[in-house]
Amino acid sequence: MKILITGGAGFIGSYLAEDLLDKGHFVIIIDNLSTGRLSNIRQIYRDDNLEVHIDTIFNKRLMKDLVKNCEQIYHLAAAVGVRFIVDNPVQTLETNIYGTEIIVQLANKYKKKIFIASTSELYGKSESLPFTEDSDRIYGSTNIRRWSYAESKAIDEFLALAYWHERKLPVVIGRLFNTIGPRQTGQYGMVVPRFVQQALLNHPITVYGDGKQSRCFAHVGDVVDGMVKLMNEEKCVGQIYNIGSDREITIFDLAKKVKKLTKSSSRIKLIPYIEAYEEGFEDMERRVPDLSKAKQDVGYKIKVPLDDMLKEIIEYYKK
Ligand SMILES: NC(=O)c1ccc[n+]([C@@H]2O[C@H](COP(=O)([O-])OP(=O)(O)OC[C@H]3O[C@@H](n4cnc5c(N)ncnc54)[C@H](O)[C@@H]3O)[C@@H](O)[C@H]2O)c1
Repeated sequence: MKILITGGAGFIGSYLAEDLLDKGHFVIIIDNLSTGRLSNIRQIYRDDNLEVHIDTIFNKRLMKDLVKNCEQIYHLAAAVGVRFIVDNPVQTLETNIYGTEIIVQLANKYKKKIFIASTSELYGKSESLPFTEDSDRIYGSTNIRRWSYAESKAIDEFLALAYWHERKLPVVIGRLFNTIGPRQTGQYGMVVPRFVQQALLNHPITVYGDGKQSRCFAHVGDVVDGMVKLMNEEKCVGQIYNIGSDREITIFDLAKKVKKLTKSSSRIKLIPYIEAYEEGFEDMERRVPDLSKAKQDVGYKIKVPLDDMLKEIIEYYKK
């Protein structure tokens, strides 16, 4: 099958490309390298079954050709990372709303099945845990830029579902929770690569807020496996799925674990959110998915434990 991945030179996209090539598919990547890197796809770059376009999804003429000539689309291109979102509010909204509109409209025109990579940020400040796919969403003021990511991804979901209901475009929506692994960069606000790099350099490991906020981390391989299963199961069309891990850890405990596994002499330093991000910054305290829908519909499983993921990332950064 010919499969298009937008954002295919990104962290998750590069693993997805490898997985689809391994399964014998022809993969087409489009990526403007805004947060992605060519080095992410170095090991597959010369594969005869790979075609790479370093370009933007805003290039409608190119996108039309790519969508027309593929059978499935995984739409991953997006503005990503809390740091990046806070620093680039216009690019965030344009990429995540206008960019997705282009892809979804073209997918509809040529009736190509599309996977939309959504996010756990979508649940916002809701405290009714664990989050199920039809849980309520609670956001802060529009003055707080971080919410623009969740809002823009919510618009993507509305758009995709609207095309499914009204025009019968086959769509699958995956709400990804914190996904980690080698190749992820800490540059745009991702916590694990940042902690690992700080620990390896014996610099202070900087925890934002009081560190009592918690997250659940899943291995990129498990997440990609879930995405591909959802995309290829007929009953998942027109549905939303949580994908990630439901094993919770506080950010302070994560910092302690990274320090221990790296045998680092770093101290753990708490930094107020206002210094780390912006005035009035809001974080969500906990974020735990209910994974029963994905487990039931495609047998979704989390295989890699957190310590193994961290060891793999530490080895990657040591190199
Ligand atoms: N990593 C996570 O924990 C996580 C969690 C929830 C959702 N997601 C979603 O998964 C997807 C992939 O995220 P990731 O973690 O791999 O981040 P990433 O930044 O590595 O990947 C996004 C890719 O999109 C590309 N891109 C951005 N704008 C583009 C444009 N206009 N044209 C072409 N390419 C463009 C970037 O260069 C990058 O390679 C995103 O949609 C993100 O919202 C990720």
